[in-house]
Amino acid sequence: MTSGTYELFPDEARTVAMRAAAVRALEHVEPGSLMGIGTGATVAQFIEVLAASDRCPGEAVASSRRTAHLLLAAGIDVVPLPDSGRVPLYIDGADEVDPLMRLIKGGGGAHAREKVLACSADLFVCIVDDAKVVPALGSGPVPVEVLPFARHWVVRRLSELGGRAVPRIDFVTDNGNELLDVYGLGLADPGSVECSIACIPGVVACGIFALRPADIVYAGDASGAVVEMRPPTR
Ligand code: A5P
Repeated sequence: MTSGTYELFPDEARTVAMRAAAVRALEHVEPGSLMGIGTGATVAQFIEVLAASDRCPGEAVASSRRTAHLLLAAGIDVVPLPDSGRVPLYIDGADEVDPLMRLIKGGGGAHAREKVLACSADLFVCIVDDAKVVPALGSGPVPVEVLPFARHWVVRRLSELGGRAVPRIDFVTDNGNELLDVYGLGLADPGSVECSIACIPGVVACGIFALRPADIVYAGDASGAVVEMRPPTR
């Protein structure tokens, strides 16, 4: 069993792209401040860049145990979400990013805590390699975290929404729950699908981040160039 699976050894071109995006995100970090940090290979690059910089936050709220370990190894204190329920800054990766900065997340299975952090953040900066930027969401599955008790019920309800739910084998989230990867959902209106899935009893969180999109996206490429995306109107 594992509490997080993501690429441990990304290829060199993707590493250059992820690292370039991570370096750009550094400019938003106020040294000594509190920030939230997501999960995944891109975030692992970000933590390395952060640790080697002079911009280390004083404390960080980690979206997963894996990230907490990386932060502690980098000498950054890990704290719970503060009583205010707010973090000034949240930095995380994504599996898909559309032109309105809506996201699919959860490839690493950490999206339930990631969604809390994204919604609690004054500024949500997303860092990706440019292969993640897509014209429309839905090229891959939508991860859905479910209470183990409710799995069969949720699978049936997702099928009524047009989705084919495939349990992620030998995977347990940091919250002790199961994960479904859901294929075939029509995502022409991702916000409405996000709401519909959230309303299914037994669903903990789905990986559609349309109701709380990113505020800024940095998309790096294999040459080390970075495109900055901001929403056209908001
Ligand atoms: C973790 O659950 C995810 O939401 C990640 O943020 C997403 O899968 C991107 O991960 P990589 O940076 O590993 O591609």
